[in-house]
Amino acid sequence: MRTIIEPFRIKSVEPLHHTTVEERERYLERAGYNLFGIDARHILIDLLTDSGTSAMSTEQWAGIMRGDESYAGGESFFRLKRAADDLTGFRHMIPTHQGRAAERILFAVMCKPGTIVPSNTHFDTTRANIEFTGARAVDLPIPEAADTQARLDFKGNMDTAALEALIVREGAGNVPLAMLTVTNNSGGGQPVSMANIEAVKGVCARHGIPLYLDACRFAENAWFIHEREAGYGDWTPKRIAQKMFSLADGCTFSAKKDAFANIGGFLSTNDDRISQQQTNLLILTEGFPTYGGLAGRDLEAIAVGLEEVLDPDYLRYRIVSTGYLGRHIADRGVPIVEPPGGHAIYIDAARMLPHIPKAQFPAQALAVELYRHAGIRSVEIGTLMFGAAARHELLRLAIPRRVYTQSHIDYVVEAILEVNAAKDGIRGLEIVQEPPFLRHFSARLRPV
Ligand code: F0G
Repeated sequence: MRTIIEPFRIKSVEPLHHTTVEERERYLERAGYNLFGIDARHILIDLLTDSGTSAMSTEQWAGIMRGDESYAGGESFFRLKRAADDLTGFRHMIPTHQGRAAERILFAVMCKPGTIVPSNTHFDTTRANIEFTGARAVDLPIPEAADTQARLDFKGNMDTAALEALIVREGAGNVPLAMLTVTNNSGGGQPVSMANIEAVKGVCARHGIPLYLDACRFAENAWFIHEREAGYGDWTPKRIAQKMFSLADGCTFSAKKDAFANIGGFLSTNDDRISQQQTNLLILTEGFPTYGGLAGRDLEAIAVGLEEVLDPDYLRYRIVSTGYLGRHIADRGVPIVEPPGGHAIYIDAARMLPHIPKAQFPAQALAVELYRHAGIRSVEIGTLMFGAAARHELLRLAIPRRVYTQSHIDYVVEAILEVNAAKDGIRGLEIVQEPPFLRHFSARLRPV
């Protein structure tokens, strides 16, 4: 059989609510043309993020009931620790309430003002947490990643020659750690090859610099390696993931992505001294080391999710269904970041709407029109989010895990193609009011 189906059936359902175009126009006006300001009940299909939006499995819900809420030494912690140890092999693991809490603790312990943390591409919370310590976050993607249309198997890779040059120029003593984000979210959800992880590890090891993975989407990355990298076709996703982690000295992890949890994360390291400092900070800001800012039931959900996500049937379906959305719009003339990523499709709005200048936020204008036309929420990753530093004007359509069926995605395809057919009528936007930082969350805009 060629048809790839959702490898689950539905036991509990959540109704969707239709709204009319007139209603949505009112909601948009009220929200200042900012989709973060729209109530979720007024959204039909929500592709704002794949983070914390997964549908949990029957086993995860069973785990929720098993959750041990003891303050110290709860069984749920040990269940999570066994799952994490089996997968990552790192000596130490502390739970955190989500990925950015792990980042904050990691960088608070390892970075000093003036130091530098290179990555293939830092996610925005990662960058912000590095900069909060006075250190500098530097992105070193391969140069080909700048071209949204280039079709590379591993477009999320780091430029290892640039990494070497940076370390030589700045001095290894000023680089407390290097990071690799797998998959590379800000770079289009593109994977990093095993060969690249090995090469980055090689450079880091030569200079005595620890390598940490930002492992949010480790399983999707492992599947891309399975599918695309020579030598891994007969490896299980779990074995590939284990090898990815074995090349690193630690990781940050947001369980809201590839652990199908609605909240949670963890921080791991092989360094005993660093681990002690991390644990001290954890107790100060998150909680006791056997729950770390989470309920015992959350730890259970993560432990189960870490195992479920490596099911080859799930990963095949996941990557193929994201690609399905990408191919169906790209083959009918909508420019996307090529090739389709793991968790999201990114429309290149600068290419799609050349009549709207950067200063009028073409990707935000597209997000607004997609909501107005069909009730679909997506997110701008461009000038509204990053200001003058924006490298592209992208609209991200992130796919929640195990939530939407193929007919939902067919609806999204139809809506995008209809918007594309009438794209010359889409108008740009201007800012009416903005906060001093992270303006995309709360800025108010209006049509030009
Ligand atoms: N690293 C990456 C690569 C991420 O994509 C995210 C979150 C984080 C770290 C932070 O994790 O949200 O648990 O604190 N990404 C979400 C997104 C918010 O929509 O892409 P968190």
